[in-house]
Amino acid sequence: MAQDAIEFQYDGQPVRLPLVRGTEDETAVDIRRLRAETGLITLDPGYANTGACQSAITFINGEQGILRYRGYPIEQLAQGSTFLAVAWLLIYGELPSSEELERFEREVTRHTMLHEDFHHFFDAMPKSAHPMPVCAAAVSALTTFYDEPTTDDEIAKSIVRLIAKMPTIAAYSFKHSIGQPTMYPRNDLGYASNFLHMMFATPCERYEVDETVARTLDLLLILHADHEQNCSTSTVRMVGSSLANLYACISAGISALWGSLHGGANQKVIEMLERIAAEDGSADAFLRRAKDKDDTARLMGFGHRVYKSYDPRATILKSACHDVLDRIGGSSQLLDIARRLEEVALSDDYFIERKLYPNVDFYSGLIYQALGIPVDMFTVLFAMGRLPGWIAQWLEMRRDPDFRINRPRQVYQGPRERPLPAS
Ligand code: CMC
Repeated sequence: MAQDAIEFQYDGQPVRLPLVRGTEDETAVDIRRLRAETGLITLDPGYANTGACQSAITFINGEQGILRYRGYPIEQLAQGSTFLAVAWLLIYGELPSSEELERFEREVTRHTMLHEDFHHFFDAMPKSAHPMPVCAAAVSALTTFYDEPTTDDEIAKSIVRLIAKMPTIAAYSFKHSIGQPTMYPRNDLGYASNFLHMMFATPCERYEVDETVARTLDLLLILHADHEQNCSTSTVRMVGSSLANLYACISAGISALWGSLHGGANQKVIEMLERIAAEDGSADAFLRRAKDKDDTARLMGFGHRVYKSYDPRATILKSACHDVLDRIGGSSQLLDIARRLEEVALSDDYFIERKLYPNVDFYSGLIYQALGIPVDMFTVLFAMGRLPGWIAQWLEMRRDPDFRINRPRQVYQGPRERPLPAS
């Protein structure tokens, strides 16, 4: 029989902690009774060994490079599904029937417009602002336009609103930054095509959506749609655990995603490749810097907390990158530098020993660039893609029988009690 608990001695007393097994045989020590029984807490900076919840949404095996949404391999979803079908799958647990998908697509299409008063909101933002904080603020501002969703019906409506309005918010934040009038959404276009229209059409000129561009964008959204308990998702759960409403939690997730160690890495990858190209184009010189502990440079788009082999999303994107550059053009110089960086890094002891491989951000920026997406918008697109994952995780948390406010403890290392100096 499989072991069902671990036992150890503490302070002369036996302690028994149960084991919890997941459906893929991942095993955790359930420490819920640890403090009550021993007075001990655990210390795990960065939560590298901490399971914060039990989840049925996404499975990752970092050693084998496996990623599945609700059991379906990412490779199959990337090839045979659409972003809105994947969003439904993540949120409701099963692939939608054709009627469910049709209804969902129709509802999302019909909720893409923002309240007209939102124009004042964008007008109040400096033109120089990065679109990520503008999007985070705009999503948070949705709370001021709509009542807090509480019933299942209201939550379902908020989910549609969020998925529908996110591309509009994203495109408005871009149009505002370049001083162009915003473009209303078009109900005759699909999700990705409508976003491209709002980004690139102007009142003077129609934008003909290229099918390859729209399909590639949809693929990128699918690949970003969920990634279990990453930094931004954990933030959504953390904020949501106080019973904060859905819009507030998603806004917090967008802010967490912006950091350069997380979603912000896609922008940093392109900036890194451009810097290398502008200097001498040498991958080797940059890798020396990335390995030097006295240098702050890191090989952006490389390494991952969970993947200790090739990120399966990077495999898909690497091949998509070749296709897209072949079909619609783009910087082959940057792709060449990226390939060379990857080749040298993967045969370098520093990267081999630490099991550092390309992650999703290594090739995504090159594709966004080829699609004509401005660099500042790369992480916004990551946020658009991650939205259904955040929603699914928020819903799962709110319905979890183990639900409690998230409130970690600490090991205090500051001064012991001391009197205030006499004045
Ligand atoms: N370049 C150079 N060295 C690295 C890199 C890198 N990209 N990534 C990790 N290392 C080294 C790190 O210095 C450490 O070395 P040592 O053991 O000698 O101190 C070792 O590898 C382990 O790294 P870590 O920082 O302890 O690992 P982590 O799990 O805490 O961090 C990471 C994961 C993704 C933040 C990190 O690998 C990194 O900074 N990568 C570059 C930024 C990036 O591409 N982020 C996108 C992540 S994927 C998309 C997403 O989910 O957001």
